[in-house]
Amino acid sequence: MRRREFLRQAASASALVLVSPSFLPAALPLDRRIRVGVIGCGSVSGMYLPHLAKSPHVEVVSLCDRRPDRAASRGDEFRIAARYDSLETMLAGEPFDLLVNLTDMQEHGRLNQMALTADRHVWSEKPLANTYREGKALLELAAQRGKRIWGAPAVVNSPQFAEMARLLGDGRLGRVAAAHAHYGHTGPHWSAFFYEELGGSLPDLGVYNLATLTGLLGPAKSVVAMTSVITPQRTVDDKGAIEVKAEDNAMVLMEHASGVLSHVQCGFNYFDPYGHEGDGQDRPTISVWGSQGSMHLIGYDWAPFAVELATAEQPTPVRLATDTADYVWEQGASVIAQSLVSGSEPLIAAQHALHVLEVIEAARDSQRTGKRVMLESTFAWPVVRAE
Ligand SMILES: NC(=O)c1ccc[n+]([C@@H]2O[C@H](COP(=O)([O-])OP(=O)(O)OC[C@H]3O[C@@H](n4cnc5c(N)ncnc54)[C@H](O)[C@@H]3O)[C@@H](O)[C@H]2O)c1
Repeated sequence: MRRREFLRQAASASALVLVSPSFLPAALPLDRRIRVGVIGCGSVSGMYLPHLAKSPHVEVVSLCDRRPDRAASRGDEFRIAARYDSLETMLAGEPFDLLVNLTDMQEHGRLNQMALTADRHVWSEKPLANTYREGKALLELAAQRGKRIWGAPAVVNSPQFAEMARLLGDGRLGRVAAAHAHYGHTGPHWSAFFYEELGGSLPDLGVYNLATLTGLLGPAKSVVAMTSVITPQRTVDDKGAIEVKAEDNAMVLMEHASGVLSHVQCGFNYFDPYGHEGDGQDRPTISVWGSQGSMHLIGYDWAPFAVELATAEQPTPVRLATDTADYVWEQGASVIAQSLVSGSEPLIAAQHALHVLEVIEAARDSQRTGKRVMLESTFAWPVVRAE
């Protein structure tokens, strides 16, 4: 894709935004801390809470988990006195501005809706909701209440994402044709919800690659996909032996504007020598090809550490954007808190998360019907503009 075409598409994509980005509240005093309530004190809270504790824009004031021992243990660890065992009691208790939702995927839509109705902003782990329809209703509810909702992942914040977006915007790859992304491991062992209805490898893992590729190449117009279950029974810590209901293996093809085609594969049956944390990962997980160049993201897109570029002018690959700066994947809620304080619009957009949710649902529809599925949602793009 040439620069002029890229900018034209960007303008038309922006014009197509169906749910216009709702306003950010007026900037708050810069020394103001956003009062945060965290619901879900399981595995991922072990990454979020230390990060939130360091944020100058955040004060975590309450914790909630339906397993009270978990809220108590995190509360002791991070010295947070207010602890609850349901969102109802949490909303009626210690006042807070922003709900950080780290619960089971199947609970997100319901809990996010309750929080918005109670006039709280929401940062939700992925997915934002369980269905595209539910997600769309949440964005509408947020607009009605004058509140904001945002959803993970935060991949568009990495310096490597920005580098790739700039290279595309500058036309360095020539006519962009195709992209590929993959992410997998052997599956979480701690909770059954990953394998139950509305769980699955697409909202847990594929969601990162889908956010990256749509973020780089623009909203998808249509989707064709196949999904399957490779391991029908698993043993997990919280429920023992379970039947796997949601896909643990997925291949998704997206058609972007101007005919660029991209492919995401993800699953819970991928042996990965780098493990879940990806320590030491030095291979590309995202690749984009054009007529004049190709580029690869080194490391996972949620924790990348370089971009490799080769062009017709300079065919020997060079490594760019080797500085990870302050990006970490668990930064979404603190970045949102900062934007609430400063009144600036973050790169992470609810419409983008909603679009990714529609892609995931379309992939499942495509598997069920054997057909290509047209999409309706879009988001403001490019996410990072070429300078
Ligand atoms: N674990 C990770 O490394 C990781 C990384 C990135 C994103 N995520 C995402 O974070 C979310 C949580 O994953 P996790 O691995 O921490 O799961 P987990 O099972 O370890 O923790 C979820 C917690 O939420 C609590 N919970 C569920 N429903 C609740 C409700 N209605 N009210 C109160 N508490 C409730 C559970 O009791 C549990 O303690 C998921 O969306 C997952 O996709 C996880």
